Amino acid sequence: MGNTVTESDTIALDLLLEKMYLDGRHDFREYKRGTVIRRLERRLQATAAKTYLDYMRFLDAHPEEYQRLSDYLTIQVSSFFRSTYAFQQVARLVLPELVSGKRDQRQQSLRFWSTACARGEEPYSIAILLAQFLGHRLSDFDISIYATDISRHALLEAEAGLYPPKDVEVLPPVILESYFTRHSEGYAVNNDIRQMVNFSYFDLVSTIVSPFTSLDCVFCCNILIYLQKQLQERVLEMLYDSLATPGYLILGEVERPTSSLRERLECLDAKAKIYKKSGGDNDG
Ligand SMILES: C[S@@+](CC[C@H](N)C(=O)[O-])C[C@H]1O[C@@H](n2cnc3c(N)ncnc32)[C@H](O)[C@@H]1O
Repeated sequence: MGNTVTESDTIALDLLLEKMYLDGRHDFREYKRGTVIRRLERRLQATAAKTYLDYMRFLDAHPEEYQRLSDYLTIQVSSFFRSTYAFQQVARLVLPELVSGKRDQRQQSLRFWSTACARGEEPYSIAILLAQFLGHRLSDFDISIYATDISRHALLEAEAGLYPPKDVEVLPPVILESYFTRHSEGYAVNNDIRQMVNFSYFDLVSTIVSPFTSLDCVFCCNILIYLQKQLQERVLEMLYDSLATPGYLILGEVERPTSSLRERLECLDAKAKIYKKSGGDNDG
């Protein structure tokens, strides 16, 4: 396929994404078209399909291609403490307030959600941050870090919690020594960190109801950028509803809440993309 996208290409792409949704059970209809087209191009080349219609015939003949396409359309790039500044600010602005609020309310539960967790780097970073912040008070709390994604193979790797040296050796030595164990194949996340994290499959775009409620802190990082505006709005509304009051929402470096949510969220740090849902909002 050439670089010019014609009207018939657009119609064929709509049909392909509809097919992907109905037959393949993966909904990319409201992902940003530019990224979808670029990444789809690679699957067309790999399967020797010249047009989207050829590729749809290929999908009929090779149903296993649905999963491969889904893996191509979702980008599982991540890293531990991906935005160092954001994690620093969570430790400075969110955790002290959250923990002292829990103390005042005599509550022991701390509930976090990493909504697009890729291979586990983000939820394990949250667990490490909590372990560092709470120190000997860690056992005073009942900590749940839910970690979800639509990539089943990324979730399997996340659960294994084993990372190649190049992914982990960039971390400060104190973190590496305290929370990882060196194995012949790489570095394993230590059990006390792993047991704070619960991994499961969840598709952020397929439902408007959150599987979790009364969350203290939701991380939705580097996923909204792939979604069209209306879908970003739906996802963010669901995440907002899943938060307790007060509750904190952390977005990726280049992401921001949609306009309707901006009115209901207090921005704690515009650079770190940390937002707070507080009692005085007008969400009824
Ligand atoms: C670029 S990674 C971001 C990982 C991590 N949050 C971070 O900021 O480093 C995007 C992740 O979103 C996941 N993803 C894409 N669409 C999704 C959806 N509809 N529901 C849940 N996860 C999705 C992908 O599988 C991928 O693991």
